[in-house]
Amino acid sequence: MEIVNLKLYNFRNYEKENIHFSSGINVFQGENGQGKTNVLESIYYLLTGKSYRVRREQELILWGKNEFHLFGDFSAYQRSLSLESHYLDHRKIVKINQVPCKKLSDFVGTINVVFFSPDDLMMVKGGPVERRRFIDLHITQMYPRHVHLLNAYNKVLQQKAALLKSSIQSSKASNIEIWNEQLLDFGSKIIRNRWHYTQILSKKSQEIYSQLSSGKEELAINYIALGHQNIEKALKEFPKMLEEKMQQEMERQIILVGPHRDDLNYQINGKSARLFASQGQQRSIILSLKLAELEAIFKEKGEYPLLLLDDVLSELDIFRRDYLLEFIQPINQVLITMTSAEKPSKKIKSLFQVDKGHVGRIH
Ligand SMILES: Nc1ncnc2c1ncn2[C@@H]1O[C@H](COP(=O)(O)OP(=O)(O)OP(=O)(O)O)[C@@H](O)[C@H]1O
Ligand SMILES: [Mg+2]
Repeated sequence: MEIVNLKLYNFRNYEKENIHFSSGINVFQGENGQGKTNVLESIYYLLTGKSYRVRREQELILWGKNEFHLFGDFSAYQRSLSLESHYLDHRKIVKINQVPCKKLSDFVGTINVVFFSPDDLMMVKGGPVERRRFIDLHITQMYPRHVHLLNAYNKVLQQKAALLKSSIQSSKASNIEIWNEQLLDFGSKIIRNRWHYTQILSKKSQEIYSQLSSGKEELAINYIALGHQNIEKALKEFPKMLEEKMQQEMERQIILVGPHRDDLNYQINGKSARLFASQGQQRSIILSLKLAELEAIFKEKGEYPLLLLDDVLSELDIFRRDYLLEFIQPINQVLITMTSAEKPSKKIKSLFQVDKGHVGRIH
């Protein structure tokens, strides 16, 4: 899968720019704060409908403007495809081949993408939100209907939260039970999806991590649902937990049971990575996970996703850097950003210079 061309209008620090990409490795070089990451972010946004960095689309609009517009031409399975994303008045309009799409799931997953950035380290040391976001975004690319489940589940959470906070006490408990039924239904499906895709990623990343540590260390990744590592046990206990915690939920006015509180647990040699992993081990976990993601997508879709590497080469030591560069050889196209201080490898196909919201081709 490849991006052929990208047009940006009023996106971040780009007022108007048009970039033509090549197959193979494309490198974007420039000083700090010139717009290298913004290019990758715009591609990621076009393909997933989500920003990698922010929750509010408003922040993506060039300061002082009131809309942004992105156009991308892609190719996959020897076919071309154009995607367009227009954000205006807090609304987004997405088009595939000029035809408007009603739902995010109509276009997410058409062209797959793996984004690898230094912020990913937060997935090890940060809170569970980042880890759930990672697995949900991965599932969404493989199985776009996961978005519906997440949306439906979040709506139920909002309704239940409003009910817990409301001052009307009559028939509160029976109304909560009604929301709990839906929470159980959507929640169980989310748990199953997350567990299934974590299993696949876990197996592959375990192999890669073992190679990165020369067989000395073992990585284990588990999805922890409702506090349980055993998925069947978690699903069996789910209805009982909802019932048991209801009183406490009403007292504290927060929702205590459900996959919105779940987590992924990374362990190295049986010890929690969140608590104990060194910087190098954290980088190895992320590298293993991202490469496992690449392989998982390739296996399911039969073509490698577009790979976006934001500033990561400088974060890796020579051994891991070589491992990564070797691993990405069969990938159709990779976009890499780096600062001007770094020397791009000889294998690169195209080199671009990024300067104050302009991208110029060097070769
Ligand atoms: N909505 C916006 N409107 C205008 N400028 C913005 C907006 N959002 C971010 N910027 C600016 O875009 C610039 C480039 O950001 P970007 O993260 O792409 O830099 P970079 O080239 O990747 O730098 P680094 O090497 O430090 O990672 C920043 O200076 C930032 O202030
Ligand atoms: Mg950057």
